[in-house]
Amino acid sequence: MLKGKHIILGICGGIAAYKSATLLRLLVKAGAEVQVVITPAGKEFITPVTLSALSGKPVVSEFFSANTGEWHSHVDLGLWADAMVIAPATASSIAKMAHGVADNMLITTYLSAKAPVFVAPAMDLDMMAHPSTVANLELLRSYGCHIIEPAEGELASHLVGKGRMEEPEKIFDVLDDFFTPKDLAGRRVLITAGPTRERIDPVRYISNYSSGKMGYAIALEAARRGADVTLVSGPVSIGIDHPRVRVVSVESAREMLDASMAAWPESDVAVMCAAVADYAPASAADSKIKREHQDVPVLHLVKNPDIAATLGQCKRPGQILVGFALETDHEIDNAAEKIRRKGLDAIVLNSLRDAGAGFGVDTNKVTIIAADGTSTPYPLKPKAAVAADIIDYITTKN
Ligand code: C5P
Repeated sequence: MLKGKHIILGICGGIAAYKSATLLRLLVKAGAEVQVVITPAGKEFITPVTLSALSGKPVVSEFFSANTGEWHSHVDLGLWADAMVIAPATASSIAKMAHGVADNMLITTYLSAKAPVFVAPAMDLDMMAHPSTVANLELLRSYGCHIIEPAEGELASHLVGKGRMEEPEKIFDVLDDFFTPKDLAGRRVLITAGPTRERIDPVRYISNYSSGKMGYAIALEAARRGADVTLVSGPVSIGIDHPRVRVVSVESAREMLDASMAAWPESDVAVMCAAVADYAPASAADSKIKREHQDVPVLHLVKNPDIAATLGQCKRPGQILVGFALETDHEIDNAAEKIRRKGLDAIVLNSLRDAGAGFGVDTNKVTIIAADGTSTPYPLKPKAAVAADIIDYITTKN
């Protein structure tokens, strides 16, 4: 979402300035054009050489270039920007911004900026808690600045408290989120993800290799786009951190069915991404099946419920149900049959033939097949980009 965006990165004189290099790197990697503006004190903490190398642009700090006398126009910069982010923002710069004390290039740029301004404070806990800082931040909020609250933790002073600049990744996420269209705002999305575990005894189970990465990527993308997401997840080793994602952790297909059915009536969209085990032991042993004193045990299996099909049977008009399929042959025909049998609106066909697609990896190559038979192929992409394609498909085709 930050591709091609013009971002001013303002850096003030605080220890956290070393983290600004990481933030700059993340922004540039995402395709943003970044102009660094640094206060004179900021240069004591991180060198302009590092920052200009990372941004690919000379760093602006003074009103004039000492060598050429060239005038740096804070007005032009302020108009050029799509967003300005000040990270770290020190108590002194926050005070100057709040009261219009335009004595350096960063503050004049801030006063000229027409774009949204994000402020990531960084200071010692007592400075942060001081009534003048609290009041200045409140003033900035009232002027429309977005304050990225500092985190609690160990500070440069070795004291522990609130004042650590938020991590660059989090600041990046705030900016990225700001520029992400919220085309799913007010919609509820249910997603199943990961494998299920079917218990044999207290220490053994039947499962599969699903990592949950694809489902988690779809959950995150839907939430980024404004949806309230219920993520019904089998046991996975990954996590998700978004305020609009509610994770319901389950183990077996039965539990996944119950959790999904509980959320489905309230949902507008469901994406069935889980690799549900097809069979489960007819009954689980209460205690560990011993290897000694026993013949080779025979596992009696029963068919698991089909969660997607069960949701499909009670689908209301207007609800959208999307499934996944992993086929090795007659892919299109099998997918079409699955759409009919499960009452789906579309199915995302995973390829097992292509290197880089399928279980565990970070990329995927999919074809989306609609109920009317039209198929839309996509190239191999990172799972986050595949998730965006799937959400785009759902929002544009329905
Ligand atoms: O029938 P198959 O397993 O190929 O179907 C895959 C699709 O159905 C996926 O969307 C998967 O999440 C869903 N499914 C399910 N419950 C099952 C089996 C599959 O929801 N028991």
